[in-house]
Amino acid sequence: MNSFNSPYNKLQDAQLPTFGKPKPKMKKPGRLFSLVIVVLALGIVLTLLNIYELHKMRETGNLQQAVQPQAEGKPGKYAVRTPIVWVEGKKLESGYLKHVFAVFDRIGYALGNGDSDWDVLWSHEYPFESLAKKMSVLKPHQKVNHFPGSGYITNKVSLAVSTNPFIPRAFKIPKEKRQFLQYAEEHPHTLWVQKRNSHRGIKIKHVQELDLSDDGSFVQMFVDRPFLIDGRKFDIGVYTTLTSIDPLRVYILESEALFRFCSHDYYPFDARDIKKYVVGDDYTPVWEIPSLKKLYRELNFNFKDAFNAYLDMKGHNSRKLWADITSAIKTVYLQKEAALIGATNKYTSSRNFFEMVRFDFALDEDLNVYLMEVNMSPNLSSGHFRENTLMYEQVVFNLLSLVLVTRPVSHDFSQSSEDEANMRVSDKDISVFPEWCLSAQCLHSCENEMCKLCSPCVSLSMKKTLKLAYLEHINKGNCGRVLPQRMSGEFALQWTPSHSDPEFHSLNHRNKLMYMWFVGKCRQSTSWC
Ligand SMILES: *[C@@H]1O[C@H](CO)[C@@H](O)[C@H](O)[C@H]1NC(C)=O
Repeated sequence: MNSFNSPYNKLQDAQLPTFGKPKPKMKKPGRLFSLVIVVLALGIVLTLLNIYELHKMRETGNLQQAVQPQAEGKPGKYAVRTPIVWVEGKKLESGYLKHVFAVFDRIGYALGNGDSDWDVLWSHEYPFESLAKKMSVLKPHQKVNHFPGSGYITNKVSLAVSTNPFIPRAFKIPKEKRQFLQYAEEHPHTLWVQKRNSHRGIKIKHVQELDLSDDGSFVQMFVDRPFLIDGRKFDIGVYTTLTSIDPLRVYILESEALFRFCSHDYYPFDARDIKKYVVGDDYTPVWEIPSLKKLYRELNFNFKDAFNAYLDMKGHNSRKLWADITSAIKTVYLQKEAALIGATNKYTSSRNFFEMVRFDFALDEDLNVYLMEVNMSPNLSSGHFRENTLMYEQVVFNLLSLVLVTRPVSHDFSQSSEDEANMRVSDKDISVFPEWCLSAQCLHSCENEMCKLCSPCVSLSMKKTLKLAYLEHINKGNCGRVLPQRMSGEFALQWTPSHSDPEFHSLNHRNKLMYMWFVGKCRQSTSWC
């Protein structure tokens, strides 16, 4: 089902603008003649240019794939070369990169391989060893989804033993055995986990049970008294993208995150049952957690907004938590930048690289944030949970937009699949005001003004409008909003429809809803304010 198309179709059907006034008729035949000559000369130059361009494309050997059918009767359109993606990974046929393929397809890429004149390489494995030769001769326009040396960030040992107030204390074994034993003596009640780079070793142990001669491993403090929701421990995965080193530029996906719950209740605690404290592949998803289910399912919030709403309603401060998470991520990149620069030195330019990883965090009862690990090539497979499709496709789509490999072409939304439409903007992206929507009055009726934007209360036509507003905001580039009026984050947090707000009360019904929606989005993230 295609959930929105009319405004776009209208846009596409719109007539081409005409420039200037109609030309006055020429009076002197001499002037007309010279004009004809100029036009003819221009025509010849353009034709020559076209031939030259075509020739260049033929040299790439990709003419069949690379030239898009030119729109007939629409002069002035350039022939656009279809960009090419090369996807590399073991056993691709098993489908774990399905959503990566889907997104590249939707943004107009053709599939190539290492011998094509490719534009983007998406490699599941770290490519700087297996594909070293190709990586040493990158052309300026080619983009690779890894950074040389990113192991400095994702390597478990290297990460755990770096100084970062958000990383639980860890010791290299056997090198720091002495310091470890001393620390353990001073903190006799601490429990430990012993890990290696190669596996997620995990079982909790007392000091006496650890193998302190295991070369290449490390021991790390176990974060006990975890923050629980409905009795379950969980972790939070934050999709983080490095777009540049020297100078550093790092972004996180702000709209969504991965929440994985342990499959057994934490209490009564038993160190022998790792399902109580370790998140495995068979984790419990958000929609099976009673306190989040309603927000996610019925009220149509996404994972992150449902989680934040839960925290805020319990009297915690979700904004502080995300500020700490951001701070932990910042520290990691600042500490590792020099190593990354070193690893990139032998390449022509670091501008060929970008990399998205997933930072996994745990929380304790006081909502302190602990960085547990950083995953290179995070799992993007919805094989186990089909419902994760939306999140994974939005993760990949936002990443590709950020690193400028999506092309600014208009798309025919009437042709797009439901998954594609949702990837761009879904019902979950437009949900606002979770506390109000969960209140008894909004659950039972849409009468009150506070309830008007709750998912069950919003009309289909208003949903389309909100989705367009969402897309405009995402794509606004250098444009800034004038109406609805902009606001501060503080203002949005205190705002209610009965607030004395002359701007709001002066508006008509639909404008009120639009204004209120931006207030709701501004509460979720200040970029909307
Ligand atoms: C990715 O996650 C799913 C769901 O938890 C799991 O079934 C699958 O085995 C994971 N894939 C990989 C490659 O780890």
